[in-house]
Amino acid sequence: MQKLIIQGGVPLHGEISISGAKNAALPLLCAALLTGESLKINNVPALHDITTMLSLLKQMGTDISGSNNEVVLSAATLSQLIAPYEMVKTMRAAILVLGPLLARAGEAEISLPGGCAIGMRPVDLHIKGLQAMGAEIHIRHGYIHAVAKKLHGARIVFDIVTVTGTENLMMAATLAEGTTILENAAREPEIIDLANCLKAMGAKIQGAGTDIITIEGVPSLHGAEHTVMPDRIETGTFLVAATATGGEIHLKNTDAHLLDAVLDKLTEAGARIDSNGNWINLKMNTKPKSVNVRTAPYPAFPTDMQAQFMSLNCIADGTAIITETIFENRLMHVQELKRMNASIEVEGNAAIVTGIAHLDGANVMATDLRASASLVIAGLIAQGETVIDRIYHLDRGYENIEGKLSALGAQIRRTQ
Ligand code: UD1
Repeated sequence: MQKLIIQGGVPLHGEISISGAKNAALPLLCAALLTGESLKINNVPALHDITTMLSLLKQMGTDISGSNNEVVLSAATLSQLIAPYEMVKTMRAAILVLGPLLARAGEAEISLPGGCAIGMRPVDLHIKGLQAMGAEIHIRHGYIHAVAKKLHGARIVFDIVTVTGTENLMMAATLAEGTTILENAAREPEIIDLANCLKAMGAKIQGAGTDIITIEGVPSLHGAEHTVMPDRIETGTFLVAATATGGEIHLKNTDAHLLDAVLDKLTEAGARIDSNGNWINLKMNTKPKSVNVRTAPYPAFPTDMQAQFMSLNCIADGTAIITETIFENRLMHVQELKRMNASIEVEGNAAIVTGIAHLDGANVMATDLRASASLVIAGLIAQGETVIDRIYHLDRGYENIEGKLSALGAQIRRTQ
């Protein structure tokens, strides 16, 4: 199994380009199932999750061509309406094919995702919403069997804010008969990106980015071209790494407006941040101050940045409380950071982090995608060598991370 080896203590300096957003690209690829014409998606990041999604769509009969970060998908005929367990278990976002398949082909069979490392993460709200739109859904042998001759519009109020739930129902509603209103919808920027692509395909959507989204169904959608928005979590991860190591970095092809809550916290920690248009510059020339963090749906602080701020707080001045309110088991990086000498106490869904002078390099294990990013940051600030095992988690969500960190001066390499 591949490992990352990091020699810590080098402040990050330099300029890199941010990739397209994983969490925007995944639903955008699924949108191709909604039309028989070609959908061209640009700025697609080269990630394991994207490869998994493309093989799933191919298996369903989608013709896929293109090169590098530009993908052309053509789902003229759908031959197999199944998302098998083997694929859904490695990537929960596979549930995003459910809404489009049902709306276009009237049928879908998707494996239940089950629990994953960071918590139970049920899909009951996806199912309830589609039932409200007229789908007949049964769970048999671990699979969701869904049938609907024609979905119809409905008013759906989400009990909990769900990102992929909102995306799934928004896609399904584009081809439903009548108007669908999604209330307590997720407001993440990735929802706006998806809505913009769907609109370019002929969908009628209003209110994406607010908590009420209205979709007026149309008989069919057509082909389009769309460019994936920048990855705000990749952006945030590099900014935390530069803050923690006391460096200065310039990030291109990104957008500061996507991560206000994160930039506020970095400023509170002592970083100086400038941004304009599509770049962000961060300079850190003091020891970081501890910052409390409480995760919540957008526009509040993202759960996908919680682990990275834990590493920053490990070597900051003072004590911070990090509270995770979205997922019930998303503090697994604490045990690994403690192996590096971090001072962290967990109480329920909160971690109390007391800053110490430095972390010690150690052998640690990545447990999920963002936890692995926190270990990379910890390795960059630790004294000595850190070896991170199970980095396939990291490859699910960070394009060429060691290449980008090396370009910023980090001492990092990958071994078999
Ligand atoms: C998405 C992101 C993920 C991010 C998360 C929260 C993608 C591909 N992934 O995941 O990176 O960490 O948003 O910002 O975009 N829930 C239910 N029932 C449901 C659906 C969700 O109870 O039917 C609960 C979940 O268990 C969780 C909360 O709602 O506690 C939010 O989850 P959700 O927003 O759905 O996360 P994902 O869309 O899976």
